[in-house]
Amino acid sequence: MDQQWENRKAQLQSCQRCGLCRTRIQAVWGVGNPKSKVLLIGEAPGKNEDEQGEPFVGRSGQLLDKMLAAVDLSRQKNIYITNIVKCRPPENRDPQPDEVAACMDYLREQTRLIAPKIIVCLGRISATRIIDPNFKVTRQHGQWVEKNGIHIMGTFHPAALLRNPGNKPGALMDFLSLREKIRQLCPEVYE
Ligand code: URA
Repeated sequence: MDQQWENRKAQLQSCQRCGLCRTRIQAVWGVGNPKSKVLLIGEAPGKNEDEQGEPFVGRSGQLLDKMLAAVDLSRQKNIYITNIVKCRPPENRDPQPDEVAACMDYLREQTRLIAPKIIVCLGRISATRIIDPNFKVTRQHGQWVEKNGIHIMGTFHPAALLRNPGNKPGALMDFLSLREKIRQLCPEVYE
């Protein structure tokens, strides 16, 4: 895995498959332990992520790290985090369908190499792309589906939780459910 992983990661930095390459500082491949069987997928880098080259490093990232810590998970140790789209959409707008389509190969390749047992979609853009085009986060968060042997759940995007803190208890329930799923399917994540 390691050589293919490094090759793909390096290729991404010169990617020109969509217009976001003209406004990015850098493409953001992902962060964490690629040997983990738990993959979290967000939407796209924001300003801080574009500057630092790492997903979820702004305020929403701090909240994400707190929720992960509540269930003994961390980007330094036992999960991998990436985004649907690897380059920052200007003004933090939603990524457009052509940008998502142009970028999906990278996520497919990451998923193939990591071979996760569990995927968590952070927010609508990720959940509608990975789980169901009609996914409604407020109604379907925390529900597990299985696709190609991978157990997948969608939950609130941490930036949405900063805007609507009333959803934090629901999000915490989702992370508790994630911990149970990890214990069932890949307890080595906690070893
Ligand atoms: N929001 C995302 O979806 N991804 C990031 O990396 C940062 C903020």
